[in-house]
Parts: sequence; structure tokens; C-alpha cells
Amino acid sequence: MEFILPILAYLIGSVPFALVVGKLGYGVDIREHGSGNLGGTNTFRTLGAKAGLMVTIGDILKGTLATALPFLFDANIHPLFVGLFAVIGHVYPIFAKFKGGKAVATSGGVLLFYNPVMFLFLVLCFFIALYISKYVSLSSMITGVFLFVYTLFLGDLVLIIVAVFLALFVIIKHRANIQRIMKGTEPKVTFFNKRKR
Ligand code: G3P
Repeated sequence: MEFILPILAYLIGSVPFALVVGKLGYGVDIREHGSGNLGGTNTFRTLGAKAGLMVTIGDILKGTLATALPFLFDANIHPLFVGLFAVIGHVYPIFAKFKGGKAVATSGGVLLFYNPVMFLFLVLCFFIALYISKYVSLSSMITGVFLFVYTLFLGDLVLIIVAVFLALFVIIKHRANIQRIMKGTEPKVTFFNKRKR
């Protein structure tokens, strides 16, 4: 059973909610729009808040479910190790030609199951960074750094190693966003903007 759970987690992570919601709900292939990324942000950008929220929640729950597998099956394997396979599935999905998202929401889902208080702290960090910068991508990377710093205070070695992996993974997957931010072409979110009278 211990050997099967990472494979099951990878398959769960591979479910491309952005593709499913886009195609089934709106007849749109999200990969042909915006950043082309199969994630919640690009779905928000392309199809609006309802679709974006559905995809984000789905992507989070993939990580949460995968991390819960060892408990559901009473298996002797570290939940974070299993959860990581969902993140790998989300980024390299077998059901979408191995081109998926950027590891943010599904990593959040893993952390939500493992340490809900830390998850809430990170959500807060994300929205503060988003309010200040208006860049989802930059806020995702900053949150990855905060994750690492937070785990140093907890002293859970496995969690620290996983945090380093997730933070680096998130930053590496945002290479194109970093270039766009430097060129000034990265789109900013608008929902914090005050309405003009
Ligand atoms: O979660 C991904 C987000 O940080 C950036 O997405 O579509 O702007 O590249 P996107």
C-alpha cells in the first residue's frame, strides 16, 4: 500500500481542473489564453471569478486529499512525502501532456492538511503581498519564502525540507513571470483598485 499512495497522489494531482472547467463549462481551452498556464489565476483572468474560484479550490483540494491518503489507508508513509506527488502531478499532469500549473494552489492544499494554522498564515501573507504588489505571481513566490521562514520556527525537519522544495519549485516555475515583471509586461490584478466615481 505504501508504494501505491505516491502513484495515487500523482494521479490525483494530475487532474487538470483548469482544463476541465474551461472546456466542459465554457468550451474554452485555457492553455490558449492569457499566460497559457493551467491554474486558477489564468482561469480567473480568462473566464472570470466563478471559474477561477472553482479551479483554485479544486487545485487546493487535490493537495489536501493526497496528503490525507496515508491516514485514509492507515499506511506508514509520511503524509508530506505523499502530498509532494500531488504537487508534481499538478505541475506535470499525465492527463494534460505533462504541462500543468505552477505548484501554488496544490502546495497550499498539502499544507492545509498538514498544518492548517500555517496555511491560514500563508494565505494572509499572500493577500498582503497581492494587495501591495498587485502581482499574483510575485505574491506566490513571496509566500513560498514566508513558508520556508515559518517552518524554521517550527523545527520540523521534514517540513523544512519540503518547504525548501516547494518554495524553489514555485520560484522555478515562475521564471517567465519574473522576466515579465522585470520587463513591466506582467498583468496586475485589478480587484483591489478603488472604483472611480
Ligand atoms: O499560481 C500561478 C500564479 O502564481 C501565476 O499564474 O497565469 O499569472 O502565470 P499566471
